[in-house]
Amino acid sequence: MSTVVSLEKRGSVAVVCIDKPPVNALGRAVRDGLQQAFEQVRDDDAIKAAVLCTAGRTFVAGADIAEFEAPDFDASLFHQTLDMIEGLDKPVVAALHGTALGGGLELALACHYRVASPGTRVGLPEVTLGLLPGAAGTQRLPRIAGASLALDMIITGKPIDAGRALEAGLIDQIVKTDLLEGAIAVAEERAEQDAPVRRISEMQVDPATVPESLFQDARESLRRRPTGNPAPERIIQCVEAAVNRPFPEGVQVEARLFQECRESRESAALRYRFFAEREAAKIPGLPKDLSLREIRTVGVVGAGTMGGGIAMNFANVGIPVKLLEVKQEALDKGLAVIRRNYENTAKKGRISMDDVEKRMSLIQGTLSYDDLAGADLVIEAVFENMDIKRQVLGRLGQVCREGAIIASNTSTLDVDELARATGRPTDVLGMHFFSPANVMRLLEVVRGEQTAPDVLATVMKLAKAIGKVPVVSGVCYGFIGNRMLEPYLRETEFLLMEGASPAQVDRAIQSLGLAMGPCRMIDLAGVDVAAKVVQEHAKAGGLPDDPAYRAVVQKLMAEGRHGQKTEAGYYRYEDRKPVDDPEVARICAELAEEHGIQQRSDITDQEIIERCLYPLINEGARILEEGISYRPGDIDTVWINGYGFPDWLGGPMFWADTIGVPEIARRLAHYGEARGNAHGYWDQAALLERMVADGLRFADWPFDG
Ligand code: 3HC
Ligand code: NAI
Repeated sequence: MSTVVSLEKRGSVAVVCIDKPPVNALGRAVRDGLQQAFEQVRDDDAIKAAVLCTAGRTFVAGADIAEFEAPDFDASLFHQTLDMIEGLDKPVVAALHGTALGGGLELALACHYRVASPGTRVGLPEVTLGLLPGAAGTQRLPRIAGASLALDMIITGKPIDAGRALEAGLIDQIVKTDLLEGAIAVAEERAEQDAPVRRISEMQVDPATVPESLFQDARESLRRRPTGNPAPERIIQCVEAAVNRPFPEGVQVEARLFQECRESRESAALRYRFFAEREAAKIPGLPKDLSLREIRTVGVVGAGTMGGGIAMNFANVGIPVKLLEVKQEALDKGLAVIRRNYENTAKKGRISMDDVEKRMSLIQGTLSYDDLAGADLVIEAVFENMDIKRQVLGRLGQVCREGAIIASNTSTLDVDELARATGRPTDVLGMHFFSPANVMRLLEVVRGEQTAPDVLATVMKLAKAIGKVPVVSGVCYGFIGNRMLEPYLRETEFLLMEGASPAQVDRAIQSLGLAMGPCRMIDLAGVDVAAKVVQEHAKAGGLPDDPAYRAVVQKLMAEGRHGQKTEAGYYRYEDRKPVDDPEVARICAELAEEHGIQQRSDITDQEIIERCLYPLINEGARILEEGISYRPGDIDTVWINGYGFPDWLGGPMFWADTIGVPEIARRLAHYGEARGNAHGYWDQAALLERMVADGLRFADWPFDG
């Protein structure tokens, strides 16, 4: 008897229940259990109908993604189970709650009827893993919900709620009372009717749901926004097959294309990313039974660009926020920006005006520290200046109640020094949000040398509750992301001084799939902001003794070219469009002359990619060897969620394994020779050297067991 699938008779109805925490994934044990249970349903004459339900917080969340790594993985195993269920003559009703995703929804579609509790969401998110639904989802969904909706759901991977699913005929009933009882009632009713069961595989796609240009438009939209993800184009082919071919043929098309996706490097990278993101939330060495601090109210100090966005994150999930500023004028301005942001979201139909008011009422402005005394967590987001921050944190150390957590949103300053300024460093950590803080998913959680374990664990859990992807970083300049950005920007600037144009550098980097090249990125963030960071770093003694280091950004700033906001930076802007500017070429040539850098015209895209990204990977290796980051996957999670690194490359460290660490080391050595290494720019991380010597990949981490 299966340990994860049970069968209980309730009168003439068999209740088949999957109980495989945490998300009832459809792995081998579950498939085998289902097979056995439904064979019993088939063979036992006393059973007239069946309900398929799940224990725990959700229906089946899909196939077990980890199984896809096996070289001999065989998707036809899903079909055996699903076809067997659908082939029964006794009605089978799926009872859905939580989420029915991927293979979970496909399983439900193989049942004859579906009922759901009100909050249920259903979807086929395989595309986010570089896959397509491989258990006949691309064939059954269009037949029951129409081609148009099915194509949209499968290609975007976005789930829909129970109400929408009911409208589309995807589910038959929403059960507002007890779900299992409701499902049993439907099963009994169907059995009593003694009518043939409804099998989706025997249905045709309704032609009214196939607009003439459906597939052409979908392909056009892919052409406009190309991606390295292998699935979308193949998804279109599958849904086309559902429309034009009989079910068994469509299933064959799907099986072939699913296999192509599964074997692709890009899907392997996307599957890696799925687990890396979840692994990043785990902190090695913390006791499992650690009790966490409760966060019911939050304080934010500073209502500028970051403070406002940070406050919104909490209001969005119903946590009240006190937002503190020094002057009423700054406070009013900050609150007005928050309101405008919410109103814009409402205009796009994503929230109601009621939601706007509710969220605004949760954010209360104040000029008095006394109002922060009751907060469970206070995050400071004032100017990036050590003296000001020390002062603010000192004050917070005094006013915050005992046990409250104090966090800093600093992007570069020493979190340990800030922690000491509070006088209670165990309560302190860094919460490095990314701009815009209400949108960007990444949160670097900076663990200070004295941060208490329960403080760290509490903030990791809270981060998830506000929809962030948290990654722990140790204390160092720039933490994980900005520290790795530094050599990337350094080489960008040297390449510009050697004669590459900003457009050439950006094009080369973007050709890899990065959302934005470095020059566009700085123009958008502000040349002045970037130059200031370099100056502060210099003041703190962190820069190499090289007058040419990041000279371009300083010069552009000095010339008033602050980026897109001043319509000139690395580019000139015409109607917000970046255009190459001969003035920048002149500035770079002058700087080259000044610093004795030889200009040349033979810079290739490959050189740009190698010079910008291989030192970034090298810095990632240093971050690992210093213990700043727990694992390569954490670094990849940072780069995908915070810096637009393409997820289908898996992040820089995963990508490094794809290229081969020895090749990266060889090219770093080459540039060290070709460009000279007086400042140690091309020195290799000891970890990288060890990896080459021992034949290790980042995927083999941790190297010492
Ligand atoms: N396979 C294997 N493990 C899975 C899984 C899956 N499909 N879905 C979730 N898990 C694991 C996670 O890795 C995590 O493990 P951990 O506790 O060891 O870190 C645990 O379940 C809990 O997951 P989350 O932290 O993500 O929990 P949430 O409550 O935040 O979210 C969820 C729940 C919405 C179900 C989310 O886990 C999710 O989106 N899961 C993936 C859904 C998906 O992509 N399904 C399609 C799979 S591919 C497929 O079905 C192919 C088929 O067509 C043949
Ligand atoms: P900002 O200049 O937009 O906002 C700072 C706000 O703090 C201003 O409204 C100012 O009035 C207020 N403030 C200054 N001193 C104060 C004090 N003593 N008490 C209360 N309020 C005070 O700056 P921004 O961009 O929001 O940055 C804030 C922090 O966030 C900095 O540490 C910065 O490094 C960090 N950060 C910024 C990012 C960005 O992209 N802008 C990204 C990640 C972190």
